[in-house]
Amino acid sequence: LNPKEAKVYAELDPERLPHHIAIIMDGNGRWAKRRHLPRVAGHRAGVEAVRATTETAARLHIPALTLYAFSEENWKKRPRAEVAFLMGLLRHYLKQEVPLLNENNIRLGYIGRERELPAEVQDCMAWAREATARNSGMKLTLALNYSARTELVDAVNGLLREVAGNSAAAHVTEQDIARHLYTHHLPELDFVIRTSGEMRLSNFLLWQVAYAEIYVTSTLWPDFRGLHLLQAISEFQKRERRYGGLIEPVSAAEPAPPERARAAAAIPAEALTPTGK
Ligand code: IPE
Ligand code: IPE
Ligand code: MG
Repeated sequence: LNPKEAKVYAELDPERLPHHIAIIMDGNGRWAKRRHLPRVAGHRAGVEAVRATTETAARLHIPALTLYAFSEENWKKRPRAEVAFLMGLLRHYLKQEVPLLNENNIRLGYIGRERELPAEVQDCMAWAREATARNSGMKLTLALNYSARTELVDAVNGLLREVAGNSAAAHVTEQDIARHLYTHHLPELDFVIRTSGEMRLSNFLLWQVAYAEIYVTSTLWPDFRGLHLLQAISEFQKRERRYGGLIEPVSAAEPAPPERARAAAAIPAEALTPTGK
């Protein structure tokens, strides 16, 4: 940990880390434009941000990290050459990153309409998922060709298939919907980070975001590192989460200050030292 990171880290409460962080990785194009480089140079630079962020999250023992890599709209609306570059970059990332994912005990998965991606990309995705399937640590999920509205459409169609021919069972609960979402196996989303300053969700996890805290930073994605993640989590811990209710004057869940300090000592700072450069 560099001194800046160590300072932010020392002030975090390890008992109150988010369980599921989702990041809208935005601003690659603008990062490149500022350097008079083609947009794709921004995408390439973004890979280093993915690596640093993933590693820091794993070392903090965040149970789930979901990264919005590209949306269904990106897939359909961006120039063909940019989409082709992103596909190539994804394959390159998967091949290169598996050893580091294994080193950090990370399990890789995906959300989005995988079947619509090129066959060789799907093969590579399946290979990387399989190669990390036995890890038991953080669940890293890449949202690829993802759209939250499509996810809801797929969930509704899944429910319809389930109840087909059994109209007595055709009563849908909130749990039934959650069970049919792409994220059914992940913890409840509690924190969404968006880089590059845009104040919108761009069709990301619309159901899951219900009571998640939202954090927008002006940092462009290729510049995002472990320090920025730590700063975002520090901000998360300052939020008062009410879920529509009222906060009790003295919350039983809130450990007393000395206990919190002891808990902070539980994760050794060395655990956060970046490796695998
Ligand atoms: C985010 O960066 C990456 C993808 C959407 C694939 P952008 O490509 O959206 O970058 P900006 O928003 O144009 O700066
Ligand atoms: C959202 O970014 C999608 C990803 C980061 C993958 P966009 O750049 O596509 O979002 P808009 O177009 O600014 O809403
Ligand atoms: Mg963008």
